[in-house]
Amino acid sequence: MKTVAIFASGNGSNFEAIVKYFTDKDISFVLITDIETAYVRERAKSLSINDIYVKFEDTYNFLLKNKFDLYVLAGYMRILPKHVLELGSFVNIHPSYLPEFKGKNAIQRAYDSNSCYSGVTIHYVSEEVDSGEVIFKIKIPILSGMTLQNLESRVHGVENYIYPRVINNILFNSAIDIEKQVITL
Ligand code: GRF
Repeated sequence: MKTVAIFASGNGSNFEAIVKYFTDKDISFVLITDIETAYVRERAKSLSINDIYVKFEDTYNFLLKNKFDLYVLAGYMRILPKHVLELGSFVNIHPSYLPEFKGKNAIQRAYDSNSCYSGVTIHYVSEEVDSGEVIFKIKIPILSGMTLQNLESRVHGVENYIYPRVINNILFNSAIDIEKQVITL
């Protein structure tokens, strides 16, 4: 059985998409959150996933005692230091076509810049924010007449679709051709 720790601080739509994708698969998930009141904890309860509140400062000690095959950041609003990242393989999802629009409010900044695309990137986590090795990235066209809300829901829809599939590829060394599937979403 594979073990996966998902780190999230807020809403948790990616957390839910990942857990649901792997229903009936031999994977054990744990939610780790640094925010006691995060909505993602409600999702964890409904999905019967063990959720653990770990203060950011305690993350290292927690992970020393609790090892996982993969660490998945999904809206975890903290920068993990080197000694934590050295404990295993950490991946993150970011709502832009990296290296463009690193950091916060990436969708809005792409929209306001009059760029013709936004995007989604999944990458390994390094010490520098949104800068680790890219695993998968895709552009999302910003069509004329699209509102910011339209773009946000498109980006989040693509995120929720691709993150579980990329995680599947990483865990099982498989190679689903995700790009072709996204076009038909
Ligand atoms: C996503 O847009 C993700 O790319 C970013 O944080 C957001 C988390 O959304 N890192 P959710 O909490 O999974 O709904």
